[in-house]
Parts: sequence; C-alpha cells; structure tokens
Amino acid sequence: MALFSKSKKDAITCFDVDKLPVHIGIIMDGNGRWAKKRGLPRKAGHSAGAKTFRKITRYCSDIGIKYLTVYAFSTENWKRPQDEVNSLMKLFKSYLEEALEDFKDDSIVVKFIGDKSPFNEDLRNLMIENEESSKDRDGMVLNIAMNYGSRDEIVRAVKNICNDVKNGTKSIDSIDEQMVSSYLYTSGQPDPDLIIRPSGEYRISNFLLWQSAYTEFVIMNKLWPDFEESDLDEALITYSNRNRRYGGV
Ligand code: FPP
Repeated sequence: MALFSKSKKDAITCFDVDKLPVHIGIIMDGNGRWAKKRGLPRKAGHSAGAKTFRKITRYCSDIGIKYLTVYAFSTENWKRPQDEVNSLMKLFKSYLEEALEDFKDDSIVVKFIGDKSPFNEDLRNLMIENEESSKDRDGMVLNIAMNYGSRDEIVRAVKNICNDVKNGTKSIDSIDEQMVSSYLYTSGQPDPDLIIRPSGEYRISNFLLWQSAYTEFVIMNKLWPDFEESDLDEALITYSNRNRRYGGV
C-alpha cells in the first residue's frame, strides 16, 4: 500500500506505508544558529523552532506516524543564560495554551516525558491538563521531552525497581530488559525506529539512550527552524532504504 505526501508543491513523494517508522524521535537542534545567522536574539530562533515543531507534528500525524518524540528541553538546558531559559519557559507556556489546543483536531495524545517538578506551577498544571484532556484520543502519541535526560530517566528507573524489590512487589530474578523498559517514561511504547537530528551535529545528547539501542539515525544539515515537510520525506526515504538487522545478519 502506498501513502502519498504532498509536502512539496510540485512533487508528490510516494512511500511504502509498510516501511514507515512507527516511532520517530527528533532532536530539534539549530535554533540558536538560525537566529545568529540573521542577527536575531536566540529567543527568535526558539520561536521559529516552535512553529516548525507545530508544522512537523501535524505532518507526522497526517502521514500516519503513530509515535513522535521531540526533544524540547533537556536536564542540561537549565545551564543556559537565565534570559534564554526564561524565554523558553514563556514559549512553552504560550504553546501549551494555544498550539496544543489545535492538536485536538488531529486527535493527538500529548504526553510529557521528563521530570515536571522544576517547572513553575502554571507550566506544570498546563502540562498535566494537556495530558489529561488528550489521554482518551486515538491519534498519534506526541511525547514532548521537557526537563528530560536519559541518564536521569535510567537512574529513576533503577531506584524505582530497587524500591519495588525492597517492598516485595518485584523479585530480583524478574528483572529483565522488558521490565527496565516498563520503568521508563516511555513505558508501553515501542522504541524509536528513526531519530532525526537536524543542524548537522553527530551527537545523541542524552536522548532516549536505552530506547535507541537499534534505532536508525538520520543527521540532516538544515537548522531546525528551516526544516520542512520535504526534509522529513527525505529522512523517511533514507530510513526506508536501511537494512535493519538488530544484530543479526
Ligand atoms: C536546541 O537548539 C533547541 C532547544 C534547546 C529548544 C527547542 C525548543 C523548541 C523548538 C520549542 C518547541 C516548543 C514546544 C512547546 C515543544 P539550540 O538552541 O541548542 O541551537 P544551537 O545549537 O544552534 O545553539
């Protein structure tokens, strides 16, 4: 079965739907460089990046992607200058109030992966409201990684498993890969098939370390605010030509 995407005005790209990834992860990188190239403050880059986020999320949902995980703010991003962190928090708030409302039309289920506790109460409540109000929808699952770090996620999982062993709910012998996965924020979801990193950086930056054991990576040179639907098509075509062997032959 073929799926047609009309991402380019004059061209129609044809995908084999069986070769579409079920779960895509995106490291939304390059906002700062995009702004610098234009002599704009970094926050203008994040604003432009937020528009791209909205566009690409809708596109993924339209073409039938089942899970999309975007890296919005890492556990390390608090180290940025205070005014940049503040402008990102403002941006997240306005997007959670407005753009995520839009996703209702696409039946998108919104989840936040990461530790919500350091965010201010307004933002925390908005995150919870968005999760609550979208949980019964039947469309694409959108994981927004906020204050997310994969090492932190794994440490939390280890602590929770230890607690469950201590209180007798779990035995040491029952610990296996599946059980560890079930203690992560992405519990119950398939591992990402494809992770896309725009902006030409060859790094994983503490994103989905456990979950990406057999993920295909596609690095693209475009900066995130310039990323178009046609760039996603290109990544999907690259992915569909990969031969995934999962350690076999
Ligand atoms: C990395 O680019 C980007 C971020 C740390 C922020 C990403 C956030 C958005 C795109 C906004 C999305 C909004 C929602 C609600 C999810 P960088 O600043 O490190 O770029 P650089 O490497 O060029 O400096």
